[in-house]
Amino acid sequence: MISQAKLQKLAKEHGTPLFIIDHDELRKNYRMFRKYLPRVQVYFAVKANSDPAIVRTLYKEGASFDVASMPEFKIVYENIKGMPAKQRQDWIWDKIIYANPNKPTETLEELDQYKPLVTFDNLEEIHKIKKHAPHAGLVIRIKVPNTGAMVELSSKFGCHPGEAVDLILEADRLGLTVEGISFHVGSQTTNFDNYVQALQLTANIYEEAKKRGYTKMNLVDIGGGFPAPYDDTVKPFRELAKVINSELERLFPKEIQILAEPGRFLVATAGYAVSKIIGKAVRDGKTSYYINDGVYHTYSGVIFDHCKYPIRSFKKAATTLCAVYGPTCDALDVVSMAENLPDLQRGDFVYSTNIGAYSHASATYFNGFPPAKVVQVNE
Ligand SMILES: Cc1ncc(COP(=O)(O)O)c(C=O)c1O
Repeated sequence: MISQAKLQKLAKEHGTPLFIIDHDELRKNYRMFRKYLPRVQVYFAVKANSDPAIVRTLYKEGASFDVASMPEFKIVYENIKGMPAKQRQDWIWDKIIYANPNKPTETLEELDQYKPLVTFDNLEEIHKIKKHAPHAGLVIRIKVPNTGAMVELSSKFGCHPGEAVDLILEADRLGLTVEGISFHVGSQTTNFDNYVQALQLTANIYEEAKKRGYTKMNLVDIGGGFPAPYDDTVKPFRELAKVINSELERLFPKEIQILAEPGRFLVATAGYAVSKIIGKAVRDGKTSYYINDGVYHTYSGVIFDHCKYPIRSFKKAATTLCAVYGPTCDALDVVSMAENLPDLQRGDFVYSTNIGAYSHASATYFNGFPPAKVVQVNE
């Protein structure tokens, strides 16, 4: 946890808007995940925050990686490029999954030399992989309930569980190897039953595939979705882990390798945003603060991630209900219409915690304002 005093010191030293990444927190989250889900190999979902320093820290911790684009692949690759060729190849096979079910053919062609694991969820993709990346290993993504997740993914990704074995057999017929099954229960899933149902569906598909003669699968990828502790309503990770461990034990023999792709869980609590009040007005009786960061920048998760990041003040004083707006000329650039803040002046700093996931990663240059400067702490 970075203290308020340190956040202010960094803001004075580096200017604002500032995005701060605490690497002690990254290590703590990674180790917690490993501790409570010891059977699971942790593939950090790079998309949650692709800062190369984060990837480096998790690489040093022994993490594996879920990438969804060639640039993300390259960020991970940077850490292993010095390895001898054979060792590097083994590392990629063991520790990278390209978990984007729809890949451009150019990407597949570039990927093929690395022979990674890749996901798919449709027939067209099988044919693309066969033609453009025939050396890849395949993982089928199935659609599972995303009930109650903050970010729903099943409307866009995953084949219907009922068609999974047909797709597996078609890939097999073409000479490709389907190594296992993956799913995503939706991001920030606080409904643990989603995992229970998804694991049961996966076990059923394993069973059906075996009955129909396909026995080459040896992995289950339980995706992401592990909730970050944004507030007290989020149950502790160890409770979710307990549920998952007992289902894994019940459904999958020890030889089946279990993977997970946590993004938010590893990086959310490691990120801090500090910005500055640049304007102040009273609109419809409510004090409105304009800050130099907003939804086109570090607070992009307000739009893309359906996430709220309370704005906090460093001042201790009586508060009133205020609005907080970003710096751009778009009326969409609203950080919050309801924050309890003390009376602040132009130049005062404000900050948010738990803003490490899907925030700076989706910041834009809209209106000519660049993304916040990034500072690494405890690297
Ligand atoms: C395929 C895949 N894996 C993992 C993740 C990471 O999910 P989360 O941040 O909820 O852990 C995502 C997020 O969109 C995803 O699409």
